[in-house]
Amino acid sequence: MIKLRVAGTGRFLPERVLANDDLSLSLDTSDEWIRSRTGIVERRLLAPETPPAFMGIAAAEKALRQAGLDPEKLDLLVVATNVPEELIPGSSPFIAEGLGLPHEPPFFDIKAGCAGFVFGMAVAGAMMKSGLARNALLVGIEALSRFVDWEDRKTCVLFGDGAGAVALVMADDDRGILGISLHGDPTKRGLLRIPAGGVRLPASFETVQAKKHFLEMKGRGVYQSAVTMMERATLEATERAGISLADIDWLLPHQANLRIIEALVKRLGFPRERVLVNIDRVANTSTASIPILLDEAVRAGKIVDGDILALTAFGAGACYGTVILRW
Ligand SMILES: CC(C)(COP(=O)(O)OP(=O)(O)OC[C@H]1O[C@@H](n2cnc3c(N)ncnc32)[C@H](O)[C@@H]1OP(=O)(O)O)[C@@H](O)C(=O)NCCC(=O)NCCS
Repeated sequence: MIKLRVAGTGRFLPERVLANDDLSLSLDTSDEWIRSRTGIVERRLLAPETPPAFMGIAAAEKALRQAGLDPEKLDLLVVATNVPEELIPGSSPFIAEGLGLPHEPPFFDIKAGCAGFVFGMAVAGAMMKSGLARNALLVGIEALSRFVDWEDRKTCVLFGDGAGAVALVMADDDRGILGISLHGDPTKRGLLRIPAGGVRLPASFETVQAKKHFLEMKGRGVYQSAVTMMERATLEATERAGISLADIDWLLPHQANLRIIEALVKRLGFPRERVLVNIDRVANTSTASIPILLDEAVRAGKIVDGDILALTAFGAGACYGTVILRW
């Protein structure tokens, strides 16, 4: 067990709302198609001139404030994202700069597809347990609106922008991470990717012309893998926690598709009323999806002391995992 407490949560959603009906003005799609296949009704979009780090800093400041944690006392900053401010050095230095951390605590980015927040929780928790940090700030930031082809109806309708953050501190009671299961299946790395811009296919005039810098997805393949991956990780993490599924008060699944969530819940035999869902309003916000969901539930008073939560996600890589947390 890793004794820690989520002392603060925060989220930032951009103001601009893009409804399914707005998309159907420029794309061959419809509210009915998107809603029935995905559960998405609308999503938020970050203004093109605003860097995604702005959202991460805003969410982080809220989490730190709620935790009563002075940024100058922060021991560790972990940023999970798929939209680096710059390819090198990523996003974490931009978040650290925005928060103002003159004592220079360590920061780094985690890239584990949409599972980045769950992986980040495990890594931050393990570093705290090892004594490398007494507290940590974990931020999930996503603005995939920058990386989707707005002419490709198969991908652009699915994603939304946003950020979420948690401030973690040591706990001296029985709160903390009870069980973790993390996995990766490299045979699935082709399901979700941006082919160009890395070293295998460097950016060139041709790659831009061929739209190789946009997100490519094999939707059906992702769908089929996602359910079994989250099921496996959740069963394993629950077993490692020494609890049963019936002990879990709230399941917080990555919000990629309502049908994926419902299929997972059915396979697990988990009560639907204890599953948190906000995909209808925010769509798939990738690494930011779980911390946004968490912050909404905490601030609405749904999650209370002693509750057991299961955070489960899958994403590009294919990386997947579950963290079981006692609140
Ligand atoms: C994307 C997803 C909703 C597509 O649903 P699907 O039932 O698998 O649909 P398909 O991709 O097989 O496409 C079926 C048809 O709908 C069409 N279609 C795809 N997107 C559409 C849209 N937005 N509007 C209208 N039609 C659309 C396709 O072109 C295809 O038409 P065709 O048969 O004439 O070629 C679904 O596969 C999914 O959610 N996958 C998981 C995606 C995901 O979670 N990604 C993020 C991972 S973190």
